Amino acid sequence: MITLSIIKADTGGFVGHSAVHPDMLAEARREMTRAIEAGLLVDGHVASCGDDISLIMTHTYGPDADLIHSFAWDTFQNTAHVAKDLGLYGAGQDLLSDAFSGNLRGMGPGYAELDFEERPSEPVVCFLADKTGPGAWNLPLYKMFADPFNTAGLVIDQKMHAGFVFEVHDLQAGKRILFDCPAELYEMLMYIGAPSRYVVHRVRSKTLDETAVATSTQRLSLMAGEYVGKDDPVMIVRCQSGLPAVGEVLEPFTLAYGVAGCLRGSHHAPLMPVASGHAHPSRFDGPPRVVALGFQIHDGKLIGPRDLFADPAFDKAREQANEVMDYLRRHGPFEPHRLPLDELEYTTMTLLTERLADRWTPMSTEVATPAGTGGRG
Ligand code: 13P
Ligand code: 13P
Ligand code: MG
Ligand code: MG
Ligand code: MG
Repeated sequence: MITLSIIKADTGGFVGHSAVHPDMLAEARREMTRAIEAGLLVDGHVASCGDDISLIMTHTYGPDADLIHSFAWDTFQNTAHVAKDLGLYGAGQDLLSDAFSGNLRGMGPGYAELDFEERPSEPVVCFLADKTGPGAWNLPLYKMFADPFNTAGLVIDQKMHAGFVFEVHDLQAGKRILFDCPAELYEMLMYIGAPSRYVVHRVRSKTLDETAVATSTQRLSLMAGEYVGKDDPVMIVRCQSGLPAVGEVLEPFTLAYGVAGCLRGSHHAPLMPVASGHAHPSRFDGPPRVVALGFQIHDGKLIGPRDLFADPAFDKAREQANEVMDYLRRHGPFEPHRLPLDELEYTTMTLLTERLADRWTPMSTEVATPAGTGGRG
């Protein structure tokens, strides 16, 4: 068995929230090399999307392993120190706790982990997003594993006919449910179409009895109780041989679909698929970005990455993202650009409600004229 873990955190932005400073990446790479040499990791790769660092690692300890999570925690502490030394923005932003205690649950960093018996050829795609939340993977996962207009294999590959089981989490209630698809597609869509609350966490092939997908599902605001940045989720998708082909896994991103996030985590905006070199959201801290790093895993080694959105075939999606961004920006502080009140990351409305409490009167009473403004006597 091999475990593939992506553990990620924002430990400081350069400049603002747009990117990770090269010195922070260099620090993470030094730690990664040390961990490989020490035998803790089979292999590792440091990547970033926007202001988030991802540690992509293979090892033999399984998901939720103390050793792996504490290695990631220590590495993020070090990159946060680099960020502090350089005065970078939000140094240590996602490190919500002071002390590590066993695993990263509830501590700020996000993680997606999968353990599996390596197949003779094991192609995987690691998706990293910035300026959005974990529900951002719902729509593409539905298309990859349940929509035959996206995934030809659902029709022409015998091993996909039985379908896939989706594990969906209710982030508010802290509960999960399994949907057996295609039989329960419509029921599932009722939930995952509301991605601020319901999030696909895993997808499993019924024929292969193999888990194909793992996503990071934490909501920072639910942990911290206040806005400390967007979650910026990651996802692992295994491909081919009874699972969607790499091309089928990438195809959903030809639509610059709408997600919640962008500036101050408080706006709807299109998700733009980009090459790693363009994963630096600057305009209105957006549009939200996604990169796709392809690896062949062989004897636990990460052969890669291939920068899969570095393909002119995604130019149209990028153009579409820019058009949609122009359209939404013109709404300024109005919905549907600004998030609805119950999803808004800032607490302004609570404070305003207190401040203006006395000024609100029943609609039936006569409206008092503000002092000093005269009136229509
Ligand atoms: P190749 O003939 O290039 O290997 O393509 C096979 C395939 O199934 C692509 O989806
Ligand atoms: P990050 O979660 O990427 O730090 O974004 C925070 C933000 O408020 C951007 O405007
Ligand atoms: Mg940030
Ligand atoms: Mg970020
Ligand atoms: Mg964030």
